[in-house]
Amino acid sequence: MLYSKKVMDHFTHPRNVGVIENPDGVGEVGNAKCGDIMRIYLKIDHDTISDVKFETFGCGSAIASSSMATEMIKGKPLSEALELTNKAVAEALDGLPAHKMHCSVLAEEAIKAAIQNYYEKNGIAYDAGQFPD
Ligand code: FES
Ligand code: FES
Repeated sequence: MLYSKKVMDHFTHPRNVGVIENPDGVGEVGNAKCGDIMRIYLKIDHDTISDVKFETFGCGSAIASSSMATEMIKGKPLSEALELTNKAVAEALDGLPAHKMHCSVLAEEAIKAAIQNYYEKNGIAYDAGQFPD
């Protein structure tokens, strides 16, 4: 079986799909390899992610990764969300096929982009080294 049960579950029943109106931060990233796009919307309350939604125009692994990643950061402080790696997302999904690992990178980068957007909108100083270029 190419995909784990968890990947199939999150792909067929993705959590946190959708849009947040008036989000506190939005991040959109694309994957140059396949042209797929992921967008993450955040509601932030006292440095904590009170709500998160995603839209992913991509493959099943990208959808499963966004679904799992949003579950992993919901209710968490921004500092913790910034530490989420694509590897941790893939592990939480009981693994992704090697050639699909790059799809999980979209989730990590979209979350970081959304947090960066929040910092910029609110004039909060941040460490650029924590964010992808
Ligand atoms: Fe496009 Fe995975 S997001 S192949
Ligand atoms: Fe596009 Fe995987 S091929 S993200």
